[in-house]
Amino acid sequence: MIKKGIILAGGKGTRMSPLTKAVNKQLLPIYDKPLIFYPLSILMLANIKDILIIVNKGQLDQYKKILPNGKNLGIKITYLEQDKPRGLPDAFVIGEKFIGNSNVAMILGDNFFYGQNLTSQLLNNTKLKKGAKVVLHKVQKPESFGVAKIDKKNKIISIKEKPKKFLSDLAITGLYFFDNNVVRYAKMLRPSRRGEVEIVDLLNFYKQKKLLSADIIGRGGAWLDTGSIEDFYKTSAFVSAIENRQGFKIACLEEIALNNNWISKKMVKRSIKFYGNCDYSKYLSKLV
Ligand code: TTP
Repeated sequence: MIKKGIILAGGKGTRMSPLTKAVNKQLLPIYDKPLIFYPLSILMLANIKDILIIVNKGQLDQYKKILPNGKNLGIKITYLEQDKPRGLPDAFVIGEKFIGNSNVAMILGDNFFYGQNLTSQLLNNTKLKKGAKVVLHKVQKPESFGVAKIDKKNKIISIKEKPKKFLSDLAITGLYFFDNNVVRYAKMLRPSRRGEVEIVDLLNFYKQKKLLSADIIGRGGAWLDTGSIEDFYKTSAFVSAIENRQGFKIACLEEIALNNNWISKKMVKRSIKFYGNCDYSKYLSKLV
């Protein structure tokens, strides 16, 4: 069982400037809560309680105001800083000590997942013992993503970053599951022409050894990227539509912790005090 997870929540957020000049993208609101709540909820749904959040150098205080250490959620949050965006695999170099000799999940801080069978799919993925697993989702414009071509057994045959010629319409999302070799492989990578170490290169180590598999989120699930302003607001609108129709909140961290029996109702009451008089607190009140 994978019990450790990393959220990569640094980055320049260039595409969303000037919004991201003073505040990190992951702290901006997706409808009624900061973006970081959504990837964190995914790790929590995957039953992962030991979580490393990697943030930009100098932005730690901002994050600690909203997610101090995880105690209020029955989890353990550790923070480390990245001094500059060296690329996604850099997470495993920064996180080497945190990972130790465990297997590890990683989610990008700006990725949004939602759907019916998501939790059972996540739990299934944490069973990974050897190799690596990526989560794929069909997209209309595969040329804008890293994509993967798979065989009938969901083994990955080839992967390519932003392919000019059609290879597959299955995009590689920002949720990955790795065995412990990931640290060693990540250290072997050299920056690409754009000056970053590339996740595709990291995945290729596993693919060459035929140890790269895929989990597919079908059409009943949603994966939304929040990298551009347009996508950011679309995701917000999506959350607003679902929450206001159903009355259930997406990514309510205390609700997930309570359902997992990680915290008591008393702890939820403390969170209500912490958040103050707001919609999110009213929702928490209904839970207790
Ligand atoms: P990107 O979308 O590649 O970068 P970004 O969010 O900074 O946005 P932009 O391209 O507009 O400048 O990053 C995906 C996620 O990973 C995002 O949540 C930021 C994070 N990230 C890091 O924390 N460190 C890194 O070195 C990189 C490359 C990304």
